[in-house]
Amino acid sequence: MSSHVVVLAAGQGTRMRTTLPKVLHRLAGLALIEHVLRAASSLSPASVVVVVGHQADRVKAGLDGRADLAFAQQSDQRGTGHALMQTAPHLGNKRGTLVVLSGDVPLIRADTLQRLVATHESAGAAMTVVTATVDRPYGYGRIVRTEGALARVVEERDASDEQRRIKEINSGIYAFDLEPLFDALETIPTAGSVNEIYLPGLVTRYRREGRAVETISVDDPNEVRGINSQTELAEVKRIVRQSKNEELMAEGVTIEDPATTYIDADVTVGADTVVHPGVILEGRTHIGARCELHAGVRIVDSTLGDDVLVRNHCVIERASVGSQSRVGPFAHLRPDTEVGRDARIGNFVETKKTTLGDGSKASHLTYLGDATIGTGVNVGAGTITCNYDGTHKHPTTIGDRVFIGSGTELVAPVTLGDDAYVGAGSTITEDVPTGALGVARGRQVNKEGWVASRGSSGRRDD
Ligand code: UD1
Ligand code: CA
Repeated sequence: MSSHVVVLAAGQGTRMRTTLPKVLHRLAGLALIEHVLRAASSLSPASVVVVVGHQADRVKAGLDGRADLAFAQQSDQRGTGHALMQTAPHLGNKRGTLVVLSGDVPLIRADTLQRLVATHESAGAAMTVVTATVDRPYGYGRIVRTEGALARVVEERDASDEQRRIKEINSGIYAFDLEPLFDALETIPTAGSVNEIYLPGLVTRYRREGRAVETISVDDPNEVRGINSQTELAEVKRIVRQSKNEELMAEGVTIEDPATTYIDADVTVGADTVVHPGVILEGRTHIGARCELHAGVRIVDSTLGDDVLVRNHCVIERASVGSQSRVGPFAHLRPDTEVGRDARIGNFVETKKTTLGDGSKASHLTYLGDATIGTGVNVGAGTITCNYDGTHKHPTTIGDRVFIGSGTELVAPVTLGDDAYVGAGSTITEDVPTGALGVARGRQVNKEGWVASRGSSGRRDD
């Protein structure tokens, strides 16, 4: 049977108290709704419709590049049932199974969705609800059963004291038979002071009609945790972080202090790599085997080869570092930096849009921007590429085996040929040919006896 998916994401998320729409809040490097869409994709659905409403354009922009999605607009947020009604133009004439997911329930697993669809279809149910038994049911709709069967869902605000003690909750995730669905939605009575249409109201409706309503429950209640507030978001982040760390440790990564290690969902780390406290690995970052990442390192969307050492407090963004190289402490590799193999980037070095070839070194206090640097180059302490003239950025090209003396300024555009030397303290404004020595600095003048001739009044005592 073909399946379809709807993700409800039109709500305002008032309880988050942010201008950012709730479903765009980030969890392990992905928006909440992207976690939901990933789980949904495991069903290979025939269509996926996202219901947007509050800040619809912003939510759509956040999902830009997902050409497989259709959007339905819910102009007034009148509840989850009303939200689903807005998908009728997309799904009203479709048949088969519809899986409805909440944009704010991000940890739902692919295998649970598969089990949901399988149970629903083999029971020939009109509706199947995913439930969980939780210690703190506050805020969730409670599952009210009679003779073991689901009778109805009672929302927190409508529940009696006795019902509030029920620990089995509605996850907000359902499977529906599409055939009766849209007609039935029209008949759910409105609820609350704002005339909302609650999707769980369908349970009551279907039971009255004698249609089969099933449930499946998940063992790990974290899987269906809904995020309504900042506190709940932080709790879910902690859960996700812990499971990512555990997954990496199971693959042979040493994590010195999991409580302070923040690794996004899509990051990969090779075996025998050691991660010290306070390391943050974000986005599409890939770390090789046997690397060592010292405390306070932050790496974003970057790739490190094997056996790379990154010393304390480096920031590496959209860059790559070849195997056996060493970086830091206190280095900043900015976007489009490519460091070769067995290279060194040392203390207080900043790079941007720069290639540093295999075996090359920039060990101290240097800025390299818009530079292409060959292999076996030594960039002396305090070297600066002057790449910006106030209007344009200009390139610096440095051949292989070049030696640049300390305190050099390379005024771009400029090229240093292979095997060239630059004398310390030079301000290089012209190309230096292959094998040549370039020196560009004032000649030293020593004035004999000058200090004594100033007399004692001019002496500094300190
Ligand atoms: C809902 C369920 C509750 C369940 C809980 C699980 C209802 C009435 N209640 O409550 O039984 O235990 O989820 O997390 O369904 N949305 C819209 N349009 C709207 C309202 C909401 O698209 O008009 C979307 C929201 O963006 C969100 C999802 O539906 O992604 C759930 O809405 P929310 O207001 O968070 O429902 P809960 O109060 O958590
Ligand atoms: Ca919710």
